[in-house]
Amino acid sequence: MDLKLSLAPLAGYTDRAFRTLAKEFGADLVYSEMISAKAVCYGDRKTHDLADFDEIERPILFQLFGSEPRDFEIAAGILAERYHPEGFDINCGCPVPKIVKSGEGSELMRSPALIGRIVEATKKAGLPVSVKLRTGVDEAHKNVLDCARAAVESGATLVAVHGRSREGGFSAPIDFESIARVREEFSDVEVAANGGITNARAAKETIEKTGVSHLMLARGALGHPWLFDEIKAAFRGEDYTAPDLYTVLTQHLDLACRFKPVSRALPEMRSQLAFYFKGLRGAAQTREKLMRAASRADIDAILKEFFNR
Ligand SMILES: Cc1cc2nc3c(=O)[nH]c(=O)nc-3n(C[C@H](O)[C@H](O)[C@H](O)COP(=O)(O)O)c2cc1C
Repeated sequence: MDLKLSLAPLAGYTDRAFRTLAKEFGADLVYSEMISAKAVCYGDRKTHDLADFDEIERPILFQLFGSEPRDFEIAAGILAERYHPEGFDINCGCPVPKIVKSGEGSELMRSPALIGRIVEATKKAGLPVSVKLRTGVDEAHKNVLDCARAAVESGATLVAVHGRSREGGFSAPIDFESIARVREEFSDVEVAANGGITNARAAKETIEKTGVSHLMLARGALGHPWLFDEIKAAFRGEDYTAPDLYTVLTQHLDLACRFKPVSRALPEMRSQLAFYFKGLRGAAQTREKLMRAASRADIDAILKEFFNR
């Protein structure tokens, strides 16, 4: 089996630093954080921060959200010309009320035809297009097959399915059956399974129950970016020794401070740090000290003290 592991889009987390780290630990594909198609059309500068990436991160898909096909066409055109990503992904899963109220994210799943029109519009930039779906808007309306069909008929070449409905949020049990049906129905396109893959056992279960060999890792990789290598080792039947946490954290902070000034990098990493330090004694004070660090040297000193190096 040709196992493929991607790092899911996680707004607020999967920035350049984290994507680079994930690549180093074996991710085969990474996604940008979600980028507003409309904001790109307006020339919003912040969206360009989200789109910036390093060559080492390739292959990378830019994830766009929105609801107007025309916005996707224009945004994809601008981003393709300026950044040359490997392709675009359409966010059809975001449950955040502000997004849903604007008819974006998971709300797109109410209209498979609109998803089809958005895929078609995005494809005009000349790059491959994928969609990231949930199983449906709610448990009574699981229309992932209709949405996948609309996307594929309009030219999408990769369909990722988060095995929960919007109603199921981020904690409902994974509906493997829905993912398996997408895999069976669309044998010519790549299908990725997402949801709840936090260890090698869950990865194996997902593959067994869905028949999908492309797994998309999300929260499982937070504070645990070596999960990609760990899963790959398990599939090869090898034992895996987790890397030293101090080394990984130092590497992550190095990357974060390479791309942003310390004064911005650290506050933005606050919630990432919580994942690394989870369950460690004295972690809360150390995290607070890190938030007040003024330089890379301060960071080093704080980490060395905590890890006794
Ligand atoms: C903090 C957070 C941010 C997320 N941001 C995005 C996003 O920008 N685009 C997207 O398609 N999904 C986003 N997701 C959903 C994840 O990509 C993934 O589908 C979901 O977390 C389920 O996978 P998991 O159970 O392995 O975490 C986000 C999820 C979380 C928890």
